[in-house]
Amino acid sequence: MSADKVTLTRLKEMKDTGEKIAVLTAYDYPTARLCDEAGVEVVLVGDSLGNVVMGLDSTVPVTMDQMIHHCQAVRRGLSRAFLIGDMPFLSYQVSHQQAVANAGRFLKEAGCDCVKLEGGAEMASTVRAIVEAGIPVCAHIGLTPQSVSKLGGYRVQGKDLESARKLIEDARALEVAGADLIVFECIPSPLARAITERTGMITIGIGAGPHCHGQVLVYHDLVGLTTRKTPKMAKQYLDLWSQIRQTMQTYVDEVKSGAFPAPEHEFTMDPEVAARLMED
Ligand code: KIV
Repeated sequence: MSADKVTLTRLKEMKDTGEKIAVLTAYDYPTARLCDEAGVEVVLVGDSLGNVVMGLDSTVPVTMDQMIHHCQAVRRGLSRAFLIGDMPFLSYQVSHQQAVANAGRFLKEAGCDCVKLEGGAEMASTVRAIVEAGIPVCAHIGLTPQSVSKLGGYRVQGKDLESARKLIEDARALEVAGADLIVFECIPSPLARAITERTGMITIGIGAGPHCHGQVLVYHDLVGLTTRKTPKMAKQYLDLWSQIRQTMQTYVDEVKSGAFPAPEHEFTMDPEVAARLMED
């Protein structure tokens, strides 16, 4: 293990000292390397893979094998960041036995440090089973995309007193079950603050305001590698889509005009051999 490897202990120290934690999603080797070089402390291979890499409408069809494949690529690119693998829909809901076996695959086959799963108090016994197998768990409440049909769409959760109290109870149950981290997605900032102050877990927000211990963004939103409108909770720092498209157009133009390849991209051979070849 590299000396500066980010461990759960290190993340807890950061929480306790108030040093904010930067979390980013990644799905492949080069992005993972960039995360490490840039000082991202936690990398999440999210099942957002389905939306941003596979072109699906939701995360629901994403499979265990697809997640493991991408986690393995990301693992190869990381030497420092803490790696979380996202458990896809129906990989942990059917039975505790299946949940533990699938969570174990993230560690055994892909070298993840932790698994993430969506859901509130109803998932507490599953979290407990996974934690008892020695696997750290990151919970995820608020807007939980795997249940988007049940939630009635992608909308902010916990806006009224009753639903906010329910999310506080969910967080408490998940903490008691053994979750070390928790993601809040699209909940009002005061609610994220209340849970952060009332529980001991490391809280990571996306659309949950500034009071969490850390923030997470989807890589493709961060760099603008998407055609979808940037969601309110995300900040787009780059317009990579336009830049890459422009670069590709230049490449196409240069291939057609013959400007590429130029002499510096060519391999040469003995002129006599070349001449003999042309005679054949
Ligand atoms: O799948 C994902 O990328 C996530 C983050 C948005 C937290 O769950």
